[in-house]
Amino acid sequence: MKRVRILLVGVCGYGGNYVKEIEENDIPDTEVTGVVEVRDDVYELFPVLKEKNIPVYKNLETFFEANPDGVDLTILSTPIHLHYEQIRFCLLKNSNVLTEKPVCTSVKGAEQLLEFEEKCGRFISVGYQLNYSRDILALKKDIVSGRFGEPLSFKALHAMRRGRNYYMRNSWAGRIEINGCKVNDSPFNNACAHQFQVMTFLLGNKMNEAAELKSVEGEVYRGNAEIENYDIAAIKAHTLSGVPILYYTAHALKEKKLGPYAEYKFSKGTVYFGRKQDGQDILEYIYVGNDGEVINYGNIDKGLRLQKLYDSIEAVRYGVHPVCTVQCAIPHLYAVEELAREKIHEISKEYVNIHYENDDTFYEVKDLKNILTTCYVQECLVSKIEAFHVL
Ligand SMILES: NC(=O)c1ccc[n+]([C@@H]2O[C@H](COP(=O)([O-])OP(=O)(O)OC[C@H]3O[C@@H](n4cnc5c(N)ncnc54)[C@H](O)[C@@H]3O)[C@@H](O)[C@H]2O)c1
Repeated sequence: MKRVRILLVGVCGYGGNYVKEIEENDIPDTEVTGVVEVRDDVYELFPVLKEKNIPVYKNLETFFEANPDGVDLTILSTPIHLHYEQIRFCLLKNSNVLTEKPVCTSVKGAEQLLEFEEKCGRFISVGYQLNYSRDILALKKDIVSGRFGEPLSFKALHAMRRGRNYYMRNSWAGRIEINGCKVNDSPFNNACAHQFQVMTFLLGNKMNEAAELKSVEGEVYRGNAEIENYDIAAIKAHTLSGVPILYYTAHALKEKKLGPYAEYKFSKGTVYFGRKQDGQDILEYIYVGNDGEVINYGNIDKGLRLQKLYDSIEAVRYGVHPVCTVQCAIPHLYAVEELAREKIHEISKEYVNIHYENDDTFYEVKDLKNILTTCYVQECLVSKIEAFHVL
């Protein structure tokens, strides 16, 4: 069995999950050759790295100088505006790359990465975890095979409350631009990206492809006056083949979370997640055919929490490409860029409650749960509903 050498880059945010995974599970025939992190307190935060004598470097250059034989897999969990250059650097050092999502900050950059990946003969996999989940892959297999007939329309709703601590954790959260780079950070590009991206993934013609989009329109609002970008979005996109995709998301919410809910309509039936047509709450993907056939994808073992890590290790070993390619990341990135053209509507202070809880501050738009849920049910943008003109 080929021993897979791994480099972890950026471990003090989401990337800490990879350290914990490796700490808790002795993954056979792998080694963490090193960590690259700009912070000074890595060993204090992760004593396991010291215990296992895993060296920490300040940047990629010094890591590869000290390790001229390189590594087989680099895992990037760094700020999104660093991905493009870091991916290129690692490919040039002959390493495969698993990068956290989004793959980079523009469709143009992603297309260049696709070309570069081809030229270097190493893979770039993207960390949209739903794409690696075995129930979703089984559902996609059934969609691609035509089992449910033609896709007619897809929609989803997923909102999570996020407060000042979330936005203050780094220099780029909630920002439109940082150091001249458009990061377009928002619930749509970051914490609630997955439910939109997975719709494009499920509509792709092949298992490792997402459906391209031909149009994206939407409405964006800012409830939290402290941030630069929007924190509420309603999006209507169309795939190249004309399937409408509706998506609703927000951070300026009173409830800790709303959804995820999803409904994917096909000519032969509908796939539900979160809530079925009879109002019953469900935590799995369930297909209900017009002829009464029911398929519960909850019966399928989803795989591991960080299946993307395990799949990337296997892909190195067997010389294949993990399922979430750069192409799979492009339609979501395209939608993020298109939505960035929309004017951000500031929500007037009288409709926003400022709420303090557990040393955090939340901007909560009144009635937002009802607004987003109504739009989701009626399949329209917020401005189409007269009662919500307060926004
Ligand atoms: N898949 C998911 O569900 C999920 C969830 C959260 C975040 N993410 C993604 O993970 C990535 C990181 O997000 P985050 O919220 O942890 O960001 P963050 O900015 O809070 O943390 C990034 C980490 O990278 C380090 N870092 C910064 N510059 C660096 C450099 N030049 N070299 C090495 N390390 C550097 C920081 O010190 C920090 O430890 C983003 O792409 C984000 O979208 C994915």
